[in-house]
Amino acid sequence: MKKKRVFSGIQPTGALHIGNYLGSVHNWLTLQKDYESMFCVVDLHAITVARKPEELRKNILEIAAVYLASGVDPEQSTIFVQSAVKEHTELAWILATITKISELKLMHQFKEKSASHEENINAGLFTYPVLMAADILLYGTDVVPVGDDQKQHLELARELARRFNGQFGDTFTIPAGYAVKKGARIMGLDDPAKKMSKSASSALNYISLTDSPDVVRDKLKRAVTDSGKEITFGQEKPAVSNLLTIYHLLSKRTIADIEKEYVGKGYKEFKEDLADVVVEFLTPFQKKYTKYLKDEDFIRQILAHGAHVATKRAKVMMETVKARAGLDY
Ligand code: AMP
Ligand code: TRP
Repeated sequence: MKKKRVFSGIQPTGALHIGNYLGSVHNWLTLQKDYESMFCVVDLHAITVARKPEELRKNILEIAAVYLASGVDPEQSTIFVQSAVKEHTELAWILATITKISELKLMHQFKEKSASHEENINAGLFTYPVLMAADILLYGTDVVPVGDDQKQHLELARELARRFNGQFGDTFTIPAGYAVKKGARIMGLDDPAKKMSKSASSALNYISLTDSPDVVRDKLKRAVTDSGKEITFGQEKPAVSNLLTIYHLLSKRTIADIEKEYVGKGYKEFKEDLADVVVEFLTPFQKKYTKYLKDEDFIRQILAHGAHVATKRAKVMMETVKARAGLDY
């Protein structure tokens, strides 16, 4: 039987935090075993916010190194950079012609980003979800593992696929989300009401994948907790639940098991142990990450191979799309 396809991507916008990791890459590792997987560094999405060329160049290689250091296996998965495969923008244009402005106006991310980048509300920021739909639909993707914040964009991709299929005949697979029970939304350490975010005003909001053990310990020590002393998971305990989620995902122990261990114990001990769990995850990760970053040629080789594989697949789809739309005189 033909393997089902997975597609996901992360923007090269600087150091990732453990929320990004747990919401996306962490899930890719299991998926890559059973699916034909494509993991993309979405650089064209990143430039919807102004970037310095020299930083972007560096960030692209860094995200590729994060994929590799996390355990995305280039033998199993295709790792590539979005701008290296021209078909993404070609398909985005065609999809833009069946997307309504009114639909794009509803996108939360557009509203948030145009509020936070008032000086640069560009057309690319507005059509960002169309390019994302193109990324996904170009490869006949079945499953898209992303965090909760991307659900609305994925829903638009599904709608555009249905619309194109309805108008021009069956062409695109309707992609599904990948339901993660935990980790789709890791919250800020300093404010459990908001998602952990790189653009948070305080670095105490997140643990970066590049934070040193001391920094990790300090940030967790200062992480907010809830009223009451119990270390239990539940709606009335958003801060502790968030910490338990991180503990659970990184240690692979069940929440119930962790709760049991801390009956009668305090936040201090719990946070210190959690810091150990995070450091135990980060230390080998960082070692590999540094090693890959020192070998830029190796990363470039992987990316060149990935782009080659992706281009071959993308061309097949574009031929069909163009023929259906009558762009094949
Ligand atoms: P970005 O850096 O915006 O490209 O996001 C990369 C990935 O991380 C996407 O799949 C997001 O859905 C995911 N993500 C971002 N923030 C969080 C968070 N706080 N919790 C879980 N997943 C997240
Ligand atoms: N928009 C996604 C984010 O901000 C990144 C992204 C771009 C993506 N294209 C994609 C994710 C295709 C999944 C599939 O996180």
